[in-house]
Amino acid sequence: MEYVTVADDLKFSKVIAGTMRASSEGLSGSKMADFVDRCLDTGVTTFDHADIYGYYESSRLFGEAVLQDHPALRDKLQIVTKFNIILPRKENGYAHYYDSSVQHLNESLNKSLEVLHTDYVDVLLIHRLDPLLDPEELAEGLDSLIKQGKVRHIGISNASYTYFEMVSKYVKTPLVTNQIEVNPLYTDTFFNGVMDSALIHKIPLMAWSPLAGGKLFHPETGQQFRVREILRQMAEKYGADSIDKIAYAFINKLPATICPIVGSTKFERIQSAIDAQSIRLTNKDWFKILEVSRGREVL
Ligand SMILES: NC(=O)c1ccc[n+]([C@@H]2O[C@H](COP(=O)([O-])OP(=O)(O)OC[C@H]3O[C@@H](n4cnc5c(N)ncnc54)[C@H](OP(=O)(O)O)[C@@H]3O)[C@@H](O)[C@H]2O)c1
Repeated sequence: MEYVTVADDLKFSKVIAGTMRASSEGLSGSKMADFVDRCLDTGVTTFDHADIYGYYESSRLFGEAVLQDHPALRDKLQIVTKFNIILPRKENGYAHYYDSSVQHLNESLNKSLEVLHTDYVDVLLIHRLDPLLDPEELAEGLDSLIKQGKVRHIGISNASYTYFEMVSKYVKTPLVTNQIEVNPLYTDTFFNGVMDSALIHKIPLMAWSPLAGGKLFHPETGQQFRVREILRQMAEKYGADSIDKIAYAFINKLPATICPIVGSTKFERIQSAIDAQSIRLTNKDWFKILEVSRGREVL
């Protein structure tokens, strides 16, 4: 397994395990413990969480199955989590909105620490681009969490080039990553400055939905059918036994350092992402996939 330097005292495994589907896929108890053990055995040490995943349940399932009974594992893995999305619930009148206030920051992070059974997270991300975010207030709140030792590093998710720059101007420690959508169906980030931003700041990116949330396997639109077919042809050419490996190879070829976050709760899918690290697409084949995805010629 390759490891990616995120900060002087922090490395991510190149392949990251996402926990968003843990609750809906029934990954709990011994199943969760086995899954995490297998990840650690193969060198996948970084786990991506958010306070809201699984309707606020996924981190709890992870904490109960892994760190509650085996606190010594904490030093062997890295936890990334996020805050600022509020999901509809009875107590908030079923409203769905963002809250980047210091009060919510503290409530969310303290809850995450409690359910994860840990006293710190390695990286805390601002989850979504919030038009009401007060950068000065948030910077104070984040700094205080770092001083208390509850958060080691901070980052952002879904940030445009300018949003990343704006937040960077206020926070007291540098943002260490931007977690963005990247997959063969969604290629906007190659052209909207987000990749450039990562190269300028020399930070790794984390790629969410690297397999387009499963749409590559269950196509419904013309673009999805086209991309599945070109990935199938490339899989044949490169001797890959499934199209997901070509999707990961497509992401891995980008010059920015990108850690794909595998969304599946099945360990064999993690293994696919690891195996894909050795596939090197030619420029010609990479651009062919891009062309097919965008449905227009590369000029
Ligand atoms: N920052 C953000 O805003 C944000 C947003 C979304 C997600 N995320 C993070 O990114 C992670 C990954 O997102 P994701 O779950 O959408 O990722 P994904 O890996 O693109 O999609 C996972 C889906 O693909 C399916 N799949 C994978 N391999 C398959 C195969 N060979 N054949 C058929 N189906 C296959 C999985 O089904 P199976 O269960 O059958 O394997 C699962 O339903 C999340 O866990 C979360 O940590 C972040």
